[in-house]
Amino acid sequence: MNIIIETDRLVIREFEEDDLLSLYKIESDPRIVEFIPWSKLSTLNECNRKIKKYISDYKRYKLNSWAVTIKETSEVIGITQLVYSNKIKGVEIGTKILPEYWSMGYASELSKAVVRYGLYELGIDEITAVTDVNNAGAIKSLINMGMTLKKYGYYNGAEAAFYSLKR
Ligand SMILES: CC(C)(COP(=O)(O)OP(=O)(O)OC[C@H]1O[C@@H](n2cnc3c(N)ncnc32)[C@H](O)[C@@H]1OP(=O)(O)O)[C@@H](O)C(=O)NCCC(=O)NCCS
Repeated sequence: MNIIIETDRLVIREFEEDDLLSLYKIESDPRIVEFIPWSKLSTLNECNRKIKKYISDYKRYKLNSWAVTIKETSEVIGITQLVYSNKIKGVEIGTKILPEYWSMGYASELSKAVVRYGLYELGIDEITAVTDVNNAGAIKSLINMGMTLKKYGYYNGAEAAFYSLKR
């Protein structure tokens, strides 16, 4: 198991082939993709291809998607990622947490650690998060972890708020 970051309650680690069903459970949940419909990985096959890509990308890139697990139980409860986005011409953070774990502070806790990792370990100058303006949970978690609102705009056709944090 290759750990990327540890927080008080979470371990953020590389995906493994055995995580297929966990990834599928997260990606196929309609409550999770409500505000991010374009990121849908709706079949087991698509999730399988994606896991293989995450695993092969570790050897080539520092930016990737990682499994979010609970330290005490090792359960996979979400996904977080740092990716280069052509749309914003910069690095973007994204997070998905299983609904049964919402409002426990997990997204705020892990985003803070992932952004710190990106800024200070990977040397990225600025990390942006883009969220649908109606995604109250995402907006609160970004404010909680110290990001500030940069602008409003459109992203994949939806009215979006752009938050960011600089080194
Ligand atoms: C957005 C998301 C990652 C937040 O995860 P989380 O672990 O619940 O976030 P936190 O517990 O850190 O919550 C931050 C705040 O938002 C609140 N919150 C969480 N979910 C909420 C919801 N659906 N509606 C309103 N408020 C919500 C929490 O109560 C908390 O409030 P507080 O600061 O007053 O305590 C999670 O809701 C999710 O996975 N959503 C689907 C995927 C998604 O939209 N990702 C973001 C794309 S930009």
